[in-house]
Amino acid sequence: MRVALGVSGGVAAYKAAELVRQLQREGIDVQVVMTESARQFITPLTFAALTGQKVITEMFDGESGGANVESAIEHIAVAQRIDLLVVAPATANVIAKMARGVADDFLTTLYLATTAPVVVAPAMNVNMWEHAATRENVEALRARGVHVVPPEEGYLACGMTGAGRLASVESIVGAVCARLGIAHDLQEETIVVTAGPTCEDLDPVRFLTNRSSGKMGYALAQAASRRGARVILISGPTRLDPPQGVQFVAVRSTEEMHRAVLEHFPSATALIMAAAVADYRPVSPQTKKIKRANGRLNLELESTPDILADMARGKGNRAIVGFAAETENVAAHARAKLESKQADLIVANDVTADGAGFDHDTNIITLYFRDGSEKAFARMPKIDAAHRILDELRGLRQPVGQAAATRRAR
Ligand code: PMT
Repeated sequence: MRVALGVSGGVAAYKAAELVRQLQREGIDVQVVMTESARQFITPLTFAALTGQKVITEMFDGESGGANVESAIEHIAVAQRIDLLVVAPATANVIAKMARGVADDFLTTLYLATTAPVVVAPAMNVNMWEHAATRENVEALRARGVHVVPPEEGYLACGMTGAGRLASVESIVGAVCARLGIAHDLQEETIVVTAGPTCEDLDPVRFLTNRSSGKMGYALAQAASRRGARVILISGPTRLDPPQGVQFVAVRSTEEMHRAVLEHFPSATALIMAAAVADYRPVSPQTKKIKRANGRLNLELESTPDILADMARGKGNRAIVGFAAETENVAAHARAKLESKQADLIVANDVTADGAGFDHDTNIITLYFRDGSEKAFARMPKIDAAHRILDELRGLRQPVGQAAATRRAR
């Protein structure tokens, strides 16, 4: 999803930086467009740093003296590229220009040029907000299908009290998500997600582990939380910050992950095992550092508990989703895991493919269902892959035949 965020000049312009972050957490790509007066309140550099993209501030690229054709028609390109335009904060002046079709800068020209849905979050002095001219302009926009997120009442930067304060970032994000069709369809769910690697100690300084970064599991936790689910993220050691709003449980070994899943499983409606769990651990981890000696060192390993299979045995009405990290015969191995672990769904990824598996920001997944059907997806960001997996979740708790019919209908 691509959204253009128009920032116009008001004290609330600084709140647009938090808005960028929250939209990004929804997996939305944000292109910031600033009016000249917005730049009196906050610098384009702040938004460029947050988005990693050039912030559009001018109608024409000053450096090329306007002779650059690309810059001259950029508003058309952006207008066609975006899925939604949100203007926050929207001043009385910008609202008036939008209502009357005045296109004298990039933002107002973009508004005329785009056919994407538009969300406007006004912020201004209470008298300006209540002025008949502003009322008429807002009504004109509403009549045209623009969604207006009304300002809140409270103490205003100008020292007055009343309506005019920019709506909360959460309400603006909610309005954007609703118009983009980003659903909050998992409100009834409590989802346990496992992520990252597990570590099996050989001695106090060495351990067996794998290359999981946690990105896939954290993306699932973030996406599920954004869709309204209560999420318990059980994670092996990673470098990632847990997504906001999730209950986070840090673990290290397979044994610890097993215990944490056992503890939280009873309150869950679904378990998604994206963690790369160690299959083997040393039989006798040493309490003192193993000393170097010439010749070979043989390690005796034993298998770890299969957490997924263990939970599936007592699953009841819960949805059980496992992953299969494969390097060959992906379909056959994934189907075998679906059966041996009694999961409802196996998400297979060929970890040798470009842009898939360990530590990439993207993944290439195929979903294998119990009714024998499968769904393959092209390479996509892990957050998008997470949403595709979550799209299936509720159907997994229906009887197999009914779930297949729901999938066909989608
Ligand atoms: O973390 P990233 O860098 O983003 O990489 C993502 C990923 C490659 C780790 C992820 O997409 C993935 O494939 N996770 C599962 C890795 C794995 O352990 O696959 P497996 O085929 O070995 O295990 C099959 C399933 O059984 C998995 O759901 C696993 O969590 C589970 N399992 C495995 C062993 C064990 N003892 N208990 C388990 O529950």
